[in-house]
Amino acid sequence: MNTYKVALLEGDGIGPEISSEAVKVLHRVADSGRVKFEITTAPFGGGAYFSHGNAFPDETKAICDNSDAIIKGPIGLSKAESDKIPVEEQPERGALLPLRRRFDTYANFRPVYLPREIRSFSPLRAEVIGDGIDIIIIRELVGGLYFGGKERGQSDGKRYVKETLEYDEEQISRIMHIAFQEAQGRKGLLHNIHKSNVLMSSVLWNEVLEEVAVDYPTVRVEHVIVDAAATALVLNPTQFDVMVTENMFGDILSDLGGGILGSLGLMPSACVGPNKSYYEPSHGSAPDIAGKGIANPYSMIGSVALMLDKSFGMKAESEALWNAMQQVFADGFTTADLSRGGDQLISTAEFGDKVVEALHL
Ligand code: IPM
Ligand code: MG
Repeated sequence: MNTYKVALLEGDGIGPEISSEAVKVLHRVADSGRVKFEITTAPFGGGAYFSHGNAFPDETKAICDNSDAIIKGPIGLSKAESDKIPVEEQPERGALLPLRRRFDTYANFRPVYLPREIRSFSPLRAEVIGDGIDIIIIRELVGGLYFGGKERGQSDGKRYVKETLEYDEEQISRIMHIAFQEAQGRKGLLHNIHKSNVLMSSVLWNEVLEEVAVDYPTVRVEHVIVDAAATALVLNPTQFDVMVTENMFGDILSDLGGGILGSLGLMPSACVGPNKSYYEPSHGSAPDIAGKGIANPYSMIGSVALMLDKSFGMKAESEALWNAMQQVFADGFTTADLSRGGDQLISTAEFGDKVVEALHL
């Protein structure tokens, strides 16, 4: 039997309560008798800054280094709390970006998945949604503006700031291979999202895409400029299957994806690196509702489903977990963020319980 070491970074705000549900599900998967998980919890985020003096403490780095995969809850504090921390050490810059850099998790998979059972959560009209939406946004996660050189200073009596958008051809080609492989394994359609009419970075991006495309003759590529892609995602989302884009565009478009679904609470993600991957909801830590037991754990449990598939090759279990999550909604239950009226509202923990009940392994 395989035993996998999982580092659990619960994060801030609603992080701990949705993490508990992820753990509940992992225990259920382990109960099936085919696999064991050794889960080690480690401090990470704003809370870790106050308790350990660092948002990404050394002990957490060691636990992550020693794990087979990492599950990470959302991080971030209210503005008032965040303002107590020096800018460079605030959890996004002080923990999350260093985590991405440490494990070089360049390929960020963000499913925008709206199957039949949850269609009515979407704010889009039924005729726009059709038979449902099933898009994978592939966001380059360790390059671009997020990681380029930064400078802040004063010149001619004026404050200025300079942030650079940098990519080299290797960074582009490796994410392109990931995107083409994903497209090849699905419908053979890849939408490339860029801004080559303005940005030189997109010109290189598109050049490298053409070179990589030669290896994937069965994949059809459609090019869409990022601003037009935002409109198209709302007006005609079903035309998309796999989308590939650079870091910043992917950040923005994937939140738009959450809007299409009706809640960012429905957005799990996988951050895949060459040796290790980590899994996290795409949403924030929602400090305003923390501790109330009303947060939706779907994106955290969905991140577990992605981990089972991508880190541990447990495809059947992953699929069963996705199905169980939809089943809870199909049975008429939902968390407060998604209430359609007429549903039975359930708590964070009840959602986790119902997923476990519906999980057939
Ligand atoms: C995300 C988040 C992060 C990002 C923040 C928390 C730094 O918005 O994962 O999409 O911008 O990448
Ligand atoms: Mg984001």
